[in-house]
Amino acid sequence: MNSEPKHVLITGSAGAVGRAAAKALLARGHRVRGFDRVPGAVQGEGVVGNMTELDALVGASGGVDAIIHLAATPDDDDFPSQLLPNNILGLYNVLEAARLCRVPRVILASTGQVNWIQLHAGPWPVRVTDRIQPRYWYAATKVFAEAAGHAYATNHSIDVLAVRLGSVPRSLGQVTEISGSELSQDVYLSPRDAGRFFIAAIEARAGFGFEVVFATSQPVKSWRFDPEPARRLLGYEPQDRWPDGLEEEHRRFAAGLTVPGS
Ligand SMILES: NC(=O)c1ccc[n+]([C@@H]2O[C@H](COP(=O)([O-])OP(=O)(O)OC[C@H]3O[C@@H](n4cnc5c(N)ncnc54)[C@H](O)[C@@H]3O)[C@@H](O)[C@H]2O)c1
Repeated sequence: MNSEPKHVLITGSAGAVGRAAAKALLARGHRVRGFDRVPGAVQGEGVVGNMTELDALVGASGGVDAIIHLAATPDDDDFPSQLLPNNILGLYNVLEAARLCRVPRVILASTGQVNWIQLHAGPWPVRVTDRIQPRYWYAATKVFAEAAGHAYATNHSIDVLAVRLGSVPRSLGQVTEISGSELSQDVYLSPRDAGRFFIAAIEARAGFGFEVVFATSQPVKSWRFDPEPARRLLGYEPQDRWPDGLEEEHRRFAAGLTVPGS
């Protein structure tokens, strides 16, 4: 380990990315506290609570060294009933909890959907400095998260890292979708590489302020998202390439699908 063991709060710890992050951090010797509205798979500390309640977040954030904020509605959905409470109010509460509890580092899950048009039309690789082109309301909530993260980094001296994550499959439908598209395979993020990414993000040196990076596995064909910011800031090097590192049920399902070009 490059640092002392850290105590990390993971919101959305019962989800696809949360489970991968928790598993990797625990195996590395860090201490993990999970927070989710459903009981999760995190061994040890787990808090069941709703992101819409500031008190619950403040209660869960005491004494931690970092928050990995993943809890959200993870794709387009009804704005007033889903995206607004889970992605906007939840974000406000997690940043406020970090400020009130003096948590020095927050890692915010953003998405490659903020670069939607360029991701599909090129030029590639999309760089973090390229123009933002959100797909729709879900991606717009992540643009908002990046902007709010910047404000908290500058106003409250919290290191805030916004990571535009590649695709970690949540369902067999998403495995089918990735199997059928070269572009999707290039932006696949294996659960194992997601774990490697969050270890690197937790162990990176303090004092970087605000940064945006992409995180994917290695591409099958070509880099669609620029891997350099995560490499430079965190030393993150993906080891997998689609379909490496899939969860067991997804791996068996993917093996039965026809992959283009195979
Ligand atoms: N999986 C991907 O491909 C992908 C890609 C880009 C970005 N992301 C982002 O990564 C994060 C995690 O995504 P995921 O794929 O693991 O999604 P997921 O749906 O598997 O997990 C999200 C978790 O958040 C929890 N949650 C949602 N609203 C909550 C609330 N109000 N209070 C408490 N818990 C709440 C859910 O119960 C769930 O366990 C999300 O922010 C998502 O937008 C995911």
